[in-house]
Amino acid sequence: MDFAFNEEQQEIIKVVRDLVQKEIVPYAGEMDEQGKMHEGLLDKLAAQGLLGVAIPEEFGGAGLDAITIAAIYEELAKGCAGVATSVAANALASYPVIIAGNDEQKKRYFDIINENNLAAFALTEPGTGSDAGSVSTRAVKTEDGSGYVLNGTKCFITNGALAEVFVVFANTRKTPSIRGLTAFIVRKGTPGFTVGKAENKMGIRASNTTELIFQDCFVPVENRLGREGHGFRIAMETLDAARPFVGSISVGIAEAAFRACSEYAKVRVQFGKPIASFEMVQSMIADMAMKVEGARLLVQRACWMKDQGMEFSREAAIAKCNASDVAMQVTTDAVQVMGGYGYIKEYPVEKYMRDAKIMQIYEGTNQIQRLVIANKTLY
Ligand code: CAA
Ligand code: FAD
Repeated sequence: MDFAFNEEQQEIIKVVRDLVQKEIVPYAGEMDEQGKMHEGLLDKLAAQGLLGVAIPEEFGGAGLDAITIAAIYEELAKGCAGVATSVAANALASYPVIIAGNDEQKKRYFDIINENNLAAFALTEPGTGSDAGSVSTRAVKTEDGSGYVLNGTKCFITNGALAEVFVVFANTRKTPSIRGLTAFIVRKGTPGFTVGKAENKMGIRASNTTELIFQDCFVPVENRLGREGHGFRIAMETLDAARPFVGSISVGIAEAAFRACSEYAKVRVQFGKPIASFEMVQSMIADMAMKVEGARLLVQRACWMKDQGMEFSREAAIAKCNASDVAMQVTTDAVQVMGGYGYIKEYPVEKYMRDAKIMQIYEGTNQIQRLVIANKTLY
C-alpha cells in the first residue's frame, strides 16, 4: 500500500493547482453569478489536456489512471465545482465509448474531443431519473437497416449547449425497457437534434445544463455503441467508473470550505479571543478534518480498485455517497463557523454549500447509491 502520489502525479497536480489559482479562483464568483464559464477558460483547460484525461493514449488522450483523474478533479473543484463538473462530464461521456466502442468509433469520437471539445452523456429524461431503465426516447431502426430514427427529450444534460458530441441512450423497444436501452453517438448539428432550454441552477452555475430534443433525428448504424439492448449495462458500467469522480469533486469542495473557515476562525475575534480558541468551534473544525480525510481515502480506494481491474461498483457508490454527504455537512458547518459572514456572497463558503448539494443528487441520488451498496452488501 502506498499513500503518497508518485513524482509524475505530483507534477500533474501542481500544474492543475497553478491553473486553478490563476484561471479559476479569481473568476469563480463572477462565473457563479453569470451562470457560465468565463471566456477562454475552456481553451486553457483543453491546452493542459484536461478534457481528455480518460481517453486512452492510443486515441490521443492522456490515458490517466482513475486515482490521478480523481486528484485532478479535486483540484479543479477547490477552485470551482461548476468548472470541475463540466470537465468531468467529458470523462463521463468518454467511458461508454471506451467500454463499448469499436476502434473506428473510438478514433472518430476521441478525435472530436481531442480538438478541444466538450462531450455530454445523455441518459436522464423528464420522466426518467433514478429509474434509468425507463428511458422513453425511441430509436426506431430504418427499414433498410442503415440507421435509427430518434424521437424524445433528454433533460438536465451537463454541457448540453456546449458539447460537440453526445452519447445518447434511447429505447429500441416499443415500451420502455432495460432490455431495449441502446447507446448512440450523436454529433452536434445532426438534423432533427436541437438543444432546448438551459437550466437556472442553485449551484455549479458555471456548468451548463440543458434539455436535448430529438425529432425524427437520423443516426447511422455505425454510431450505435455495442449491440441493441446493451445500453443499460453500458450506462451502469460508465456510472461505476464516473461516480468516484463525483466523490473527488465533493472532497475538493469540502476541503476548500474547511480551509476557508479555518483561516477565518484564526482571525475572527469575539469575547476578546479568536473564535478558533473556542472548543465548540474546534470540535466543528476537527470533525471537518476527519470527514474530508476519510472521504478522500474512500474515493482513492474505489479508484485504485478500478485501476487494478477489480469489481468496484459497491466501492464507487460508497465513495460517491459518503464524499457528497461529507461535502454537504462540511460546507454547512463552514458557513456556521463563519457566522453571518459565511452567509454573505463576499465570502466563498455560501457558494461551496450551494455547489455541494448537487453532489448528493447527480450521477444517481444518494438514496440510489445506498440501494446499490445495500444490494451489493446483502446479496
Ligand atoms: N454494471 C453492470 N451491469 C449492471 C450494473 C453495473 N453496475 N448494475 C446493474 N447491472 C445489470 C444487472 O446485472 C441486471 O442485468 P440482468 O437483467 O442481465 O441480470 C440489469 O443491469 C438490471 O439491474 P437492476 O435490476 O439492478 O436494475 P434497476 O432497474 O433496479 O436499476 C439502478 C438499478 C442502480 C437503480 C439504476 O437504475 C441507476 O443507477 N439509477 C440511477 C441513474 C443515474 O445514476 N443517473 C445518472 C445520470 S448521469 C449524471 O447525472 C451526470 C452528471 O450529473 C454530470
Ligand atoms: P427522481 O428519480 O425523481 O428522484 C426524486 C427523489 O426520489 C430522490 O430523492 C430520489 O433519491 C428518490 N427516489 C427515487 N427512486 C427511489 C428508490 N427506488 N428508492 C429510494 N428513493 C428513491 N443526467 C444525465 O443523464 N446526464 C447529465 O449530464 C446530467 N447532469 C445533471 C446536472 C444537473 C445540474 C442535474 C440537476 C442533474 C443532472 N442529471 C444528468 C440528472 C441526474 O442524474 C438526475 O437528476 C438524478 O439521477 C435524479 O433523477 P430525478 O431528478 O429524476 O429524481
